[in-house]
Amino acid sequence: MRAYETRVDLLEVRLDWLRDWTVEDLEFLRDRPVLWTFRPVRQGGEFAGTDSERFEVLRQIGRRRLGQWVDVEWDVWPPLIMELRGYFKVLLSYHQYDGHLPPWPDLGELFRAKPHDAVKIALTLHRWADIVRFLDIVEACQAEGWDGVWVVMGPRGTWLRILTPWFGGLWTYASPEGTGRATADGQVSVEELRQVYRYPEMAPDHRIYGLLGDPVAHSVSPYIHNRLFQEVGLAAHYVPFAVDDLEAFLRVMRVLPLGGLSVTVPHKIAILRYLDDVEPAARDIGAVNTVVRREDRWVGANTDWVGFWRPLVRRFGVRSWRALIVGAGGAAHAVAYALRRAGCSFAVTNRTHAKAEALARRFGGTAVPWDAVNPGAFDLLIHTTPLGMAPHIDSLPPIPDAWLVGKVVYDLIYNPPETRLLRRARAVGARAVLSGLPMLAEQAAEQFRLWTLQTVRADDIVALAQAHLERQSETFNIFD
Ligand code: ATR
Repeated sequence: MRAYETRVDLLEVRLDWLRDWTVEDLEFLRDRPVLWTFRPVRQGGEFAGTDSERFEVLRQIGRRRLGQWVDVEWDVWPPLIMELRGYFKVLLSYHQYDGHLPPWPDLGELFRAKPHDAVKIALTLHRWADIVRFLDIVEACQAEGWDGVWVVMGPRGTWLRILTPWFGGLWTYASPEGTGRATADGQVSVEELRQVYRYPEMAPDHRIYGLLGDPVAHSVSPYIHNRLFQEVGLAAHYVPFAVDDLEAFLRVMRVLPLGGLSVTVPHKIAILRYLDDVEPAARDIGAVNTVVRREDRWVGANTDWVGFWRPLVRRFGVRSWRALIVGAGGAAHAVAYALRRAGCSFAVTNRTHAKAEALARRFGGTAVPWDAVNPGAFDLLIHTTPLGMAPHIDSLPPIPDAWLVGKVVYDLIYNPPETRLLRRARAVGARAVLSGLPMLAEQAAEQFRLWTLQTVRADDIVALAQAHLERQSETFNIFD
């Protein structure tokens, strides 16, 4: 706990999580900014005793003048709350873990009925339509003149935890690093909040950027873009938006100073209809991975194809490749576009042949059934399926060795940076192997350039991403 004193404004002590302790043990927190939370089982906590036992402990803590705030659940008897107000400021809290959103009149009524210094609403929400309603409730609380702490638990609410200052929240909750125990799902750690998102520096006129997708929790993009913003000295923050409902999401974004978005699965195609303009490459590929706000217009772009193409040019110069694309999904579309644009020929093979045919028709290539692929007909193999991607790093796409020997083998997967396929390719004598990491870096650099008009080096991004992936895999090793 000592390690966090200087890095947080308020320490929440979960008394219900402590084992074998007495009130004297808390003395070391004297003069520290502390919020006491002593959550009973009926409210999602771990304290199994009675309310009178619980309040006796809080009373003793209060008499010792330890701490500043106490979290009290909305269903507590008002005289008890009144008494605690003699010792602490009272945060009157309402929690709901079942995905249910209470109606505002009921919430308003129960908060009005109890004394408090601020209110806390913490709900697990699974749908952005409910997040929109939740934000209406936040506004209603503010209209009542109540200070508050607003929390959406679960992965859909991580962005709101980070962007708390834009919603007038008194504070946000963050977990201590490395304990593996966030106090709630979707919470980020203190270190992440400070170092990655630069929470202490946030101000309402800063620009917001983010990754729109579902899921997005393990993405490396926040680590890349936040660092780039910092390096070029821009007051901007990049957050993960795990979104199920584009319309609801865009309604929320209208109230934020949004500068741009990265877009990933499953929204790359669906986002098209909400944009004011779409750049020609994105239109041709049929997918948008970048949204840029230009004045009042939302513009869609695609940097995946550049991301794919630049590492090839950097390594081999401009060449007239004869390519084989394995897979025919979204990524394969950007690859085919880049190849056509550079005047290269390509064949495409895919588990579902009809999709290979559609891709070939669209970009002027040939669709070949898996067992009819002629290894002599291509010199560059591009793997675009998710087989071998973390956490399934032991998967190997069923690609025969004959397709690898003497070829340039390009795997678009960046996590892990060296897939089983690439190791296999090396082992059987591929001419060269290329991982998806430089592609990730080039597409991010291009994205950053579209947003900020600043040029950044892809090599620096590769280093950033690599460092993050290594840390992430160490964490997985510890907790798996
Ligand atoms: P992305 O947009 O990231 O490219 P996608 O659109 O889901 O992802 O595309 C995944 C590609 O990998 C598809 O071509 C898919 O084959 P189908 O078209 O038959 O679905 C391919 N793919 C996914 N899992 C696969 C597997 N187990 N074996 C072979 N191909 C697979």
